[in-house]
Amino acid sequence: MAKHLLTTITHFFSRPNIRNSVTGILLILSVTVNAYLLLQIRVKPLPIRNSISLEQKNAAFLQGQGVVAIVNKRSNERIVEIANDIQQVDTVVDFEIKKGKLDEPDKINEPPKQNPPAKHNPPKKQKSPPKQKTQSNVYCADTSKWTQHIVNPKTDTNLLDWTFKKKRKCPAFSVDEYPKVRSKVSLQCEGKSSKLVMTSANSTRDIQEVEFGNKCLQDVINNCCHGKYVVPNVVHYIWYADKELGYFQFVSFMSALRFMKPCLILIHGSYIPRGKYWDYFVSISPNIIHVKRERPTEIFGQKLAYPEHASDIMRIEALIAYGGVYLDFDEILLRNVESLRKYDYTQGHERDVTLGSQFVMARRNATFLNYWYHSYRDDYQKTWAWNALWVPEKLSKKYPNLIHVEGYNFTRPNWQHVDLIYNANYDWSTNYGMHMYVRWYKNVTNNVIIRKLNTTIGAVCRHVLFGNKELCVR
Ligand SMILES: *[C@@H]1O[C@H](CO)[C@@H](O)[C@H](O)[C@H]1NC(C)=O
Ligand SMILES: *[C@@H]1O[C@H](CO)[C@@H](O)[C@H](O)[C@H]1NC(C)=O
Ligand SMILES: *[C@@H]1O[C@H](CO)[C@@H](O)[C@H](O)[C@H]1NC(C)=O
Ligand SMILES: *[C@@H]1O[C@H](CO)[C@@H](O)[C@H](O)[C@H]1NC(C)=O
Ligand SMILES: *[C@@H]1O[C@H](CO)[C@@H](O)[C@H](O)[C@H]1NC(C)=O
Repeated sequence: MAKHLLTTITHFFSRPNIRNSVTGILLILSVTVNAYLLLQIRVKPLPIRNSISLEQKNAAFLQGQGVVAIVNKRSNERIVEIANDIQQVDTVVDFEIKKGKLDEPDKINEPPKQNPPAKHNPPKKQKSPPKQKTQSNVYCADTSKWTQHIVNPKTDTNLLDWTFKKKRKCPAFSVDEYPKVRSKVSLQCEGKSSKLVMTSANSTRDIQEVEFGNKCLQDVINNCCHGKYVVPNVVHYIWYADKELGYFQFVSFMSALRFMKPCLILIHGSYIPRGKYWDYFVSISPNIIHVKRERPTEIFGQKLAYPEHASDIMRIEALIAYGGVYLDFDEILLRNVESLRKYDYTQGHERDVTLGSQFVMARRNATFLNYWYHSYRDDYQKTWAWNALWVPEKLSKKYPNLIHVEGYNFTRPNWQHVDLIYNANYDWSTNYGMHMYVRWYKNVTNNVIIRKLNTTIGAVCRHVLFGNKELCVR
């Protein structure tokens, strides 16, 4: 029985083009039935000595009910969370397929009892601040304590079916309802120890501010945010205007929170955003730090030709100083990027001749970043996109060993095919993210409209906010 299942799964996983294949459907059925039978007779978990590819993970993910998780037997770490988002593994591991109910470790993914933003209940008047676990409110090495403050409803988007024929009941969702007392992290550095401390706060303006280059922030990231990877699990956004957070910017934040569960979210610039989307986001995401700095007007003694160049430069400086993942405010993540955190430096193509800078992922002070940065000293051109998009492409050809180019997986479709985003349903099953080019999208978008918006935009927003891309019944 177990052997049969193994063979079936192996066969299933090894099919590259399962999506269009009737055999695939039969195999899925067969695997599900087998897993169900296995559950009934409680055969011991299956040991499989193998490495699993992304396709396998996706396939496992899509099987849904039968298999709940794939667990690294040595570290007891979950590699593929079937009932959750897609986790990543890149080495050969000894893993087992877990079936049945999610067990103890998954409890950390549930939103905290005292502070339930996921359910979008109307705020209770005098909520007591979230209770900290008895011994400490220090969140460093043990990020499980830490993620319990982050909303994490399960993601069950089906990546095989792109017909958008079936509708489903989507959760009620309103940004007007959020807990008034929230959790908040602060950096704490004393002597040699650096850590994150969780306290509670009343206001969505109450966010710790540090100066750019702050040493304590660097130390906390080094100490707390790396896990086993060279790139820390930190997200950087740049915000230098005193204005409200827009809808897609909000969805971008939510995508980072859902798929990366970041250690920290750093907002670089002279302001933090405001408005109802910001208030909601801050109330559910405790891990925001404001990295205060003025927007540069010149670089290496040359006046900036466009205001946009300031943000181009700030993102490079942010990654040189701290490392992490830079996201444009209209770049929306569609899955976890953990598998890329092993590379010193990652970018993706926007076109064949350019690399997009909407998504840049780097270890602190990666060599590639320094080459890129110095292009502003040696070769700053007053055209709009030269240093931001063409230079990295040139550098990637010159120093291929310093960069991992992740195809078009962050910016596909690009602006040349923007119609596929606004007026069609694009199959983004292999994307890590998508750039929405929101400046060109003129239609109103909000949490009500996206429920029935039968386009790529609608699907992406539902995937991020509801954990499922399908259209909503109401
Ligand atoms: C959504 O759009 C697709 C085409 O992209 C169409 O085939 C499908 O029927 C539409 N769904 C609904 C419920 O109208
Ligand atoms: C919350 O607000 C109340 C009064 O408005 C104040 O007394 C209390 O100290 C505040 N708590 C925090 C954690 O800021
Ligand atoms: C980055 O590395 C270069 C050498 O490669 C060094 O000169 C520079 O000081 C480093 N910068 C930071 C911020 O660590
Ligand atoms: C990224 O792009 C490559 C090549 O187009 C593809 O094979 C892969 O599945 C993509 N997606 C992910 C998540 O790796
Ligand atoms: C905006 O909405 C209208 C009507 O709902 C639709 O016809 C049009 O294609 C939309 N435009 C874009 C850019 O999505």
